[in-house]
Amino acid sequence: MSGKLTVVEGMALAEAIAANWEEIYNFQARHDDILIDTYPKSGTTWMQEMVDLILHDGDETICMRAPTHERMPFIELLHMMKPGIDEVNARPSPRVLKSHLPFYLVPPSFWKHKCKVIYVARNARDTLTSYFHFDHLVRFHPDPEPFEDYVRRFMKGDVGWGSWYDHVKGFWEAKDKHNILYVFFEDIKKNPSREIQRVAKFLGKELSEDLLKKIAKLSSFEYMKTNPMANFSEFPKEILDQSEKGFMRKGKVGDWKSLFTVYQNEIFQEDYECQMRDTTLKFSDLK
Ligand code: A3P
Repeated sequence: MSGKLTVVEGMALAEAIAANWEEIYNFQARHDDILIDTYPKSGTTWMQEMVDLILHDGDETICMRAPTHERMPFIELLHMMKPGIDEVNARPSPRVLKSHLPFYLVPPSFWKHKCKVIYVARNARDTLTSYFHFDHLVRFHPDPEPFEDYVRRFMKGDVGWGSWYDHVKGFWEAKDKHNILYVFFEDIKKNPSREIQRVAKFLGKELSEDLLKKIAKLSSFEYMKTNPMANFSEFPKEILDQSEKGFMRKGKVGDWKSLFTVYQNEIFQEDYECQMRDTTLKFSDLK
């Protein structure tokens, strides 16, 4: 079963999500909500786990109270799965929410209330590679064509949640004007404790060295992969078909090299330079 994309406010979006666009855009945030926003496949789930662990002082029992999507609801999917909007509205503060919406389409109530927003960006090639695999699992997106054609579609921004380029640039330009912490997937991979401390400080917490180490371990790829509350195994099967492959794939930097040919990379690079010409944003694993 595969789904279709449509265009909402200039962004490609799954029809199944777009059907509920008004409710999504009118989501009512509270001043103490924390939003984790990312382009898909950029380390959202990883950041969710880190944030939950930070807020609960590394208590793994509390953090295993429910699967990720129940602990930190996904705004765009509230009409498709539990917890629904009524339950989320009734939850006590502080709530941690997830979204993949680009900066200009984030529900305005988040900006009105000056909510804390954590944005995770991952380099384009690894994001694309992860998305290509993921689009084989997700039922509300079209089944991916051969990789070469998928690369072209990604470059055009004709994939779920639109253009990677506009997404990462949009939050980059906005980060100093709003309460946004901009984090790179590659930086967390390189130095998890340092990045966890950055996130903790942003959330108003100072963690001891021991606690930092503990949270880094509990949110490591190896640990999360076997944690049923953090590895997506509990995610509704009507949305994500994991019968053949799981959500937690490799969690690496540079895995794009296993899929891109030299020629594809050249085409990608030429287009990349063009699309990223108007920004100061740089990724540490460009080539
Ligand atoms: P790969 O497909 O490259 O393995 P998202 O949560 O935004 O959908 O991102 C999913 C990507 O993050 C997947 O990348 C997944 O394996 C990776 N990931 C999830 N948890 C991780 C962790 N603890 N450490 C490193 N990568 C992780």
